[in-house]
Amino acid sequence: MKIAEPYFTRVFKPLLFVLLLVPALYYGWGLWQDELGANPLEAVIRGLGDWALRILLLTLLMSPLRRLINWAQALRLRRMLGLYAYFYVVLHLLGYLWFDQFFDWEEIWFDILERPFITIGMVAVVLLTPLALTSTKGMIRRLGKNWKRLHSLVYLISILAVIHFWWMVKLDITEPAIYSLILAVLLGERLFRKLKI
Ligand code: HEM
Repeated sequence: MKIAEPYFTRVFKPLLFVLLLVPALYYGWGLWQDELGANPLEAVIRGLGDWALRILLLTLLMSPLRRLINWAQALRLRRMLGLYAYFYVVLHLLGYLWFDQFFDWEEIWFDILERPFITIGMVAVVLLTPLALTSTKGMIRRLGKNWKRLHSLVYLISILAVIHFWWMVKLDITEPAIYSLILAVLLGERLFRKLKI
């Protein structure tokens, strides 16, 4: 599969860029207009968390897409997707710090130590930060082989993100179960390929 090059660079990729911005605009606008239901602040934090996880999984889908449907251009979307995942993670974290904790650092520190799903979420953000910072072409060149090693942390981060969701839910486990299944397929495909070689 191949999208004609001019369409890929001038239409497909910019369109995807704009589409990925829509959830952030939706929550920003919804908050501004007070249209996010009875508990808008929780809706924003949760919604941004959902999108962070979805885009993280979408990033992991790119290299299987190249292999399974022979779509080499998919790899050229990976950096944008990864940075968007980080963007949503940061907004999600900011939502928590602001709307949930009102920037009360003592309370936040206590929460990180006391609630395991917050602890694991925090570890995931801390691990994701160097990946976002080293996603430039210059850093890829400078880090050489270590770049790949560093970026394989994304597998661990996705597992932590899914555990974060499991540990957060109290009753209905449908959503974390669906995300776990998708992640298992994405990681399983890689493991299968590795064992076959
Ligand atoms: C890679 C990092 C992270 C990802 C992918 C992520 C993703 C998610 C997801 C998918 C949810 C569930 C949303 C839903 O209910 O539909 C969630 C909830 C939540 N996350 Fe995160 N998260 C991350 C890091 C963090 C961090 C660092 C914090 C705070 C320190 C945090 C705080 C929360 C809170 C407070 C909730 C909502 C809990 C509630 O409403 O009871 N997350 N997150």
